Amino acid sequence: MIVKGIEEARESIRRLRNEGRSKIGFVPTMGYLHEGHLSLCDIALSKGDGVVVSIFVNPTQFNDPADLESYPRDIDRDISLLNEKGVDVVFVPSTDEIYGADFCSSVRVSQLTERFEGASRPGHFEGVTTVVSILFNILNPDFAVFGEKDFQQLRVIERMVKDLKFPIEIVRGKLIREDDGLALSSRNVRLSKEGRTLAPAIYQALKKGADAFKSGERNGGKIASLVKKDLAAEPKITVDYLCVVDEETLSETTGPITSPSRILFAGYIDGIRLIDNMPLAF
Ligand code: PAJ
Repeated sequence: MIVKGIEEARESIRRLRNEGRSKIGFVPTMGYLHEGHLSLCDIALSKGDGVVVSIFVNPTQFNDPADLESYPRDIDRDISLLNEKGVDVVFVPSTDEIYGADFCSSVRVSQLTERFEGASRPGHFEGVTTVVSILFNILNPDFAVFGEKDFQQLRVIERMVKDLKFPIEIVRGKLIREDDGLALSSRNVRLSKEGRTLAPAIYQALKKGADAFKSGERNGGKIASLVKKDLAAEPKITVDYLCVVDEETLSETTGPITSPSRILFAGYIDGIRLIDNMPLAF
């Protein structure tokens, strides 16, 4: 079932609850769906007894108007994929429905948003936390699924839910990759043929760092240097940041790694921003 208006969305959830569905899962997306998004739907379908997916290209989280303009969209294909999956409700609001002309509120998480995507994309996380709060308030799900592909976003949402006491469980979905290792992303279709061919080098470099950790390297700075050196061999990949961070606080570890950590990457190929990350499993 496709719903566009806020009241219609609330009514569709009410109907599910009246049918006795007591564990409603929510998967927020910006559409142009791929297997990464669909894996989150699978998690929601197996964990819950009712699933809502939203498709909304949220203008307030784009710091670059050209990026918003060129963000890929294919709503008909998205809806048929979600129907095939068997999700109960697809919420496709308009920008006006979410942000009236006089909208003047926002939700901001500090600390976790200061570096990485927050530093490179001013206002991005405020846009994300504001729209996710609005969607949570409209739909009132019991749980919501977010992908580890956007690891900083996931941590920011987990923090927001904890701090603001949303009665919603945040469930993590693993990062899904192409066979050659490239992290699935709606933006991948914007890569040139050459860019697409060399993009898996990002995964290869991150994996080298994770392998070094597995072999006993415990210095965050050394692991980061190893990965950076690999990436530098590919001149068409421009690195924005490459750091080993603590998974909880997202603070950078340049010395000994003593807690669950992750390598975070952001960079550009052909001017297309790509992000990726890899856990350093103890
Ligand atoms: P979007 O980029 O469409 O992603 C929607 C969800 O899919 C996010 O939780 C994201 O982490 C997850 N995802 C994307 N690629 C993935 C992959 N390769 N493997 C696993 N999960 C993946 O993230 C957003 O939209 C927006 O910021 C949103 C949360 C919807 C707020 O507007």
